[in-house]
Order: sequence, then structure tokens, then C-alpha cells
Amino acid sequence: MKKKKIKLKKKNFYIFLSIILIVLVVIFYNPAVNIFSLMRKGYTFSESSNLYYNDLTKKALEQDYSNTIAKISGSKEFVNDNFNIYCELEYYDNNDFLSNVNSLIDKGYNSSDINNINAKNNKDLTNYLIDNYVENISRWIEYDFFKAENIERYIKNFDGDYKNTIVQINIGLDKPYYEDANIIKEFSSTVLANKYNKLDSSFVPDNITRLDKCSEGEAYLSKEAKEAYDKLCMASIDAGLSLSVNSAYRSYEDQQSVYDTYYSLYGQSYVDKYVAIPGYSEHQTGLALDVKSKNSNLFANSKEYSWMLENSYKYGFVLRYPKDKEDITGYNFEAWHFRYVGIDIAKYMYENNITYDEYYVMFLDNN
Ligand code: DAL
Ligand code: ZN
Repeated sequence: MKKKKIKLKKKNFYIFLSIILIVLVVIFYNPAVNIFSLMRKGYTFSESSNLYYNDLTKKALEQDYSNTIAKISGSKEFVNDNFNIYCELEYYDNNDFLSNVNSLIDKGYNSSDINNINAKNNKDLTNYLIDNYVENISRWIEYDFFKAENIERYIKNFDGDYKNTIVQINIGLDKPYYEDANIIKEFSSTVLANKYNKLDSSFVPDNITRLDKCSEGEAYLSKEAKEAYDKLCMASIDAGLSLSVNSAYRSYEDQQSVYDTYYSLYGQSYVDKYVAIPGYSEHQTGLALDVKSKNSNLFANSKEYSWMLENSYKYGFVLRYPKDKEDITGYNFEAWHFRYVGIDIAKYMYENNITYDEYYVMFLDNN
């Protein structure tokens, strides 16, 4: 009985000694202490070892756990001096992540800029920004419609308003009209035709349909626009108005003869402001029409105009060349020219008082 007790005591003593030894090692053996502390922060053993052997234990322990630090801790490109900035970065899993981050830090960008730049995930943009410091870069790239390829034009033409500058440059307003125009061959109900976007001479709208309400003579629109105009027409009749149409779809050739006629009547400066060169006319889209009032010769002074201004968006139409927007549309105010864009877009444009040129580059331009 006594022997057993002594044996047990001996065994307990060894266990006790081992625990004491482990405790002593943990307390006094530096790597183990540090690695253990880092692991308690959330880093794995190997991440913790990397941090420890790079002399980063203290810094890492002062900061919250960072997924980015965890991911890059074993990299040869890890720059100790950048540690605090790294901690504020979102990690992106690509091969150039750390070298790009280091270059951007060297160039002078802060962590928030770098996060925004990385979120764009655009190699050309990142490379450009590594080579060129762009002040307030985050103010530019916060807009989805920011285009990396236009960055130098944005900076050159900056008017103090980041959004406005981007929109204007995306429209092309810093360039001469008709120069390098995009050529459009495919019909869509949101197609943009203006002095920078040219419809091919072979461009023809889908489902050209003859108007049979609120119109006289022969006038055609693409079917969707025609059906929307029918609804607008019925509502205008209910409002006691008398709308009609002067001109709707015009082929490339029709536009040529309209252009020639006005040119011979009124000359170059008139057509520059009021008549599109063939290919550049919205009438060729089958989505635009010139309305008139049967009660008044001057449409801008008619009840029909006031009604159209306040109600046409409900049926998907917008005034395409408004007053005070000549610099954007490239045309003088045309009270009569309405464009079908669909109800959602028309409503947005109405509520935000913007032209279709602006709407298009903000929300529809995928180039
Ligand atoms: N009047 C418009 C601009 C056109 O000719 O298409
Ligand atoms: Zn027109």
C-alpha cells in the first residue's frame, strides 16, 4: 500500500515538473512567447513565426488582427516600414498585390486611396497611378462611370467638380464635334445619336411602325416608341390638347434632304445649331419625333409644350434639346423634339434635370 502511494507521488511529481518546465519555457523563451501571443491574436503558427522573425511582433500586437498582414507576412516584398498602412488595406488575391501596394505607397497614396484603387481592379489604371501621382484620386474613381483611359483628359479639363468633369469628358465635350465619332450599327431602344455618336448609313430602326394617333400624314417610329406615343397621345387628348407630329423617323437619305433644304434656306450657322448632319440625327433612330400643336404655330408658347414638359416622361419621352443645355447637347433649344427612352430613364432624367447625353455616359455606356 505504501509503495503504491510513493509511486503515485513520484508520478505526480514528474507531471508537476513537466508543467513547470513548459511554463518556464513559455515565459522565458522569447520566440515561443511571441509566437504564442501572435497566435492568440488570430495568426496561424507560420504567419506568427514570419512576423516574429521579421521583428514585427510588437507592431502586430499593437494592432487588431489583419487579414492582409496574415496573407502577406511571408512575402519577400514585405516592407516593415509599411506595416501600419498594410494593416488598413483590404487584401486582393493577385500576384502583384504587394508590389503594387508598395509602389503606390512610395508614390504617396494613402491607405484609403490604395483600397479604392485596388477595388477598381484595373491594371492600366494602377500602372498609371504608380507612374503618376494624381491628387485626390479617390474623388475621381468613386464614380462607376470613371474611365481610366480618360484620366489625363479629366485632369486637364477639371472644372472643380469631379462628377461633372467626368461626365463632360465621357460625352466627348473636350473634342471637336464629329471627330473620331463612334459608329453605331445596331439598333437598341437606348441608342445614343449625337455629335460624337454616328449612326451608320445602313442603320435602320427595328419594327418601323406607322403612327395612327395624334399625327397627320405619314410618320413612323420604332414599334415600342410608337406604342408609347399612342399612350401619350390619349393622355394629351384627355387633357384637352391637340398634339400632332411634324416629323418622326427619317432615314439617312431623308436627313440629307432635310439638311440640304435648311442649309440652302438658312445657311451653315443655322444647320449647325438645329439640323443634324446625316448619320448624327436622332430621327434616324426611329425613337425621336418633332411634335406640334394644332392650336399654336409657336410650339414653345403652346399649352401642348407645357404639358409635354411636365408629362411626357410618364410615357417614356424626354425633351432632347432643352434650354440652357446647348453646351451639352450641341444643339439649340428645340421645344418640339422629343426622344423615347423608356419610362424609367425618362423619369430619372426628368427628376434630375439631365440630358440624355449625360444619362447615357453615366449609366449606359459600356465601352
Ligand atoms: N433637329 C435635330 C437636331 C435633328 O436634325 O436631328
Ligand atoms: Zn427633331
